[in-house]
Amino acid sequence: MRVRGTVRPPGDKSISHRALIVGALARGKGSSEFTGLLTGEDVKSTARVLRQLGATISPIRDGGTVVVHASRFTPPASLLNCGNSGTTARLMLGVLAGHAFRARLTGDASLRRRPMRRVTDPLRAMGADIKEEADDSLPLSIRGGRLRSLTYTTPVASAQVKSALLLAGLTGQVAITLREPYPSRDHTERLFVHLGLGLHCRDGAIVYEPATPTVIPPFHLSVPADASSAAFLVAAAVLAEAGELAVEQVGVNPTRTGFLVVLERMGARVERLNLRDQGGEPVADLLVRPPTGLRGTEVGAAEIPTLVDEVPILAVVASRAQGETVFRDVGELRVKESNRLELIAGNLRAVGVEAVATGNDLHVVGTESPPRGGVETALDHRLAMAFAVLGTVQGADVRLSERRSVAISYPGFFADLRKIRDGGRREREGGRGKREE
Ligand code: S3P
Repeated sequence: MRVRGTVRPPGDKSISHRALIVGALARGKGSSEFTGLLTGEDVKSTARVLRQLGATISPIRDGGTVVVHASRFTPPASLLNCGNSGTTARLMLGVLAGHAFRARLTGDASLRRRPMRRVTDPLRAMGADIKEEADDSLPLSIRGGRLRSLTYTTPVASAQVKSALLLAGLTGQVAITLREPYPSRDHTERLFVHLGLGLHCRDGAIVYEPATPTVIPPFHLSVPADASSAAFLVAAAVLAEAGELAVEQVGVNPTRTGFLVVLERMGARVERLNLRDQGGEPVADLLVRPPTGLRGTEVGAAEIPTLVDEVPILAVVASRAQGETVFRDVGELRVKESNRLELIAGNLRAVGVEAVATGNDLHVVGTESPPRGGVETALDHRLAMAFAVLGTVQGADVRLSERRSVAISYPGFFADLRKIRDGGRREREGGRGKREE
């Protein structure tokens, strides 16, 4: 068996949003410069909103350096459209809470269905004036300004909520003390620490204390490849029986790599090579080796925040494993880009797999029969990619309702998937050739 292929997933979506936002808030001589930034639609939504507020951001193109010239934010002339991006909406609410003007935000049909009170409640407690047009959702308007400090325990483990509040502390220059039920992704904290912005942990809480005066220096960052996008490729290598696959420059921040822990527990073999640091984030090359077999597992509530975006693809892998896999406490999946919990279960059943969502748990029973049937993606990028990966199983016939939604987080997904699927075909043909000799 030899390394059949090498792929580099696109830049990390979460880090790309944060780099642009904090870059647009920087002051002082020079500009911020980012390489490896994700070119997906969600990141472009953040860039568009920041430009409407006065930031100068060069075009976001594959392989290019993105240059951000900050200038003081000014009241936007029009509605801030966050597109499909929950991260844009929630993080920008935090940023706007520290600015003394009114701005109105909205999003596409999916984003307008997603809960916003988890962010607006604590921002109101800090003193932001927020007017909702509909209950708990976009569109809404915010007028920030003078804020009070906040000590808060988030009801859900959500990096978007945590980051919105830290950004409100940063822009409003007030202290923030946060606790969460389980640790969610910590990219905002790492970036604050990397830039010397007064963040530390105390008695199990995340504490931001503004320095006086706070100066955010322009900074340079090389964005690692997105662990969540890498998860689809790792799973494809396993399900398409593609031989060894190297997935390069992947962010392996432990708050993001729960999928690797679970895949390994199921029998997959993934080595982390060349571990290094990139702007305060750990990065490695992943070497995926063919498993000898896959078995079901139980994924506990504490693990969920470390793999919250990977439940669709892990459920797909579970459908090819021996026995049952249970994901505990995944109710949050109901309020992602789609009702992922119901759609994962329903789509698995549509291709012949036993799967059910009961309460907040998801159960999947593995099968050896090839998956066949039509899948509804509901324009959710992660559902489209997860079920496209299921389509690489030998003998599969999985038909997606659409494919264009992958541009939200992984514009080149189908080209990379094809490379892996073709590797699988060659591997099988090579194997047959050898047996026939
Ligand atoms: C994100 C946090 C997660 C994740 C989303 C990106 C972020 O959402 O699902 O894709 O960049 O902070 P929650 O904070 O709602 O869990």
